[in-house]
Amino acid sequence: MALQDMKFIKTFVKITHDAWLKGWHERNGGNISYRLTQEETNIIKEYIDESAEYTPIGIKVENLANEYFLVTGSGKFIRNISVCLEENVGLIKIDEKGENYKIVWGLVNGARPTSELPSHLNSHSIKKAATNGKHRVIMHSHTTNLIALTFVLPLDGKVFTRELWEMATECPVVFPSGIGVVPWMVPGGAEIARATGELMNHHDIVIWAHHGTFCSGDDLDLTFGLMDTVEKSAEILVKVLSMGGKRQTITSDNFRDLAKGFNIEIDEKYL
Ligand code: 13P
Ligand code: ZN
Repeated sequence: MALQDMKFIKTFVKITHDAWLKGWHERNGGNISYRLTQEETNIIKEYIDESAEYTPIGIKVENLANEYFLVTGSGKFIRNISVCLEENVGLIKIDEKGENYKIVWGLVNGARPTSELPSHLNSHSIKKAATNGKHRVIMHSHTTNLIALTFVLPLDGKVFTRELWEMATECPVVFPSGIGVVPWMVPGGAEIARATGELMNHHDIVIWAHHGTFCSGDDLDLTFGLMDTVEKSAEILVKVLSMGGKRQTITSDNFRDLAKGFNIEIDEKYL
């Protein structure tokens, strides 16, 4: 079997293409990373070349030591992943200290992993610990409506969570842990990675004001679905605000009934 025929690669190609069609990835906007399972790591061993030099990540991610990730390339267009995989994505390995990475497959012709690698790996590290290894995907998208809302709503995760929950009945079921918001910061480094990681301790969705959204999830489908759900909710809110604002809405007691009906916990701080 060719590497390109492995299921996780095919799914990665499909969801990146779907995300492009959604309008979330203009030019090189956005980036995605996936942490391989042990089984996938065993299979890729016959395709990879581990002779490259290690490069510093810029942050320490001890619990990701010796893990392999599929990552999008810096400056690469998400829409081109389905055209040529090895030019636009690559497999990287983290060293035994969790401080460096090296490219072991793909990212040909001198390409590098996404400039948001520190934010991806710090979020992976936090989510791996918090979910007992279940979360494997970090997705960063330039979601039009969520970005638009960061110019209008206060940059407060509690406000974003409540407003976006109200826009579609199933939102509290899909993202019960709510949303974190990072104020505007320079992207692409350790500082924004730390700010994002802090919020990833409590949420699966972190919005970067005036920039985009980070989502974390178990697998590629669920993470894409989470991004799609929160962005659709933002689209409804943008429409509601454009029509002069809410005349009626889902109430706090409605949310309490929903929690009972769906057997989920809804944090009272959002109600
Ligand atoms: P990269 O092309 O380096 O992935 O950067 C795109 C981006 O969205 C930065 O936040
Ligand atoms: Zn971005």
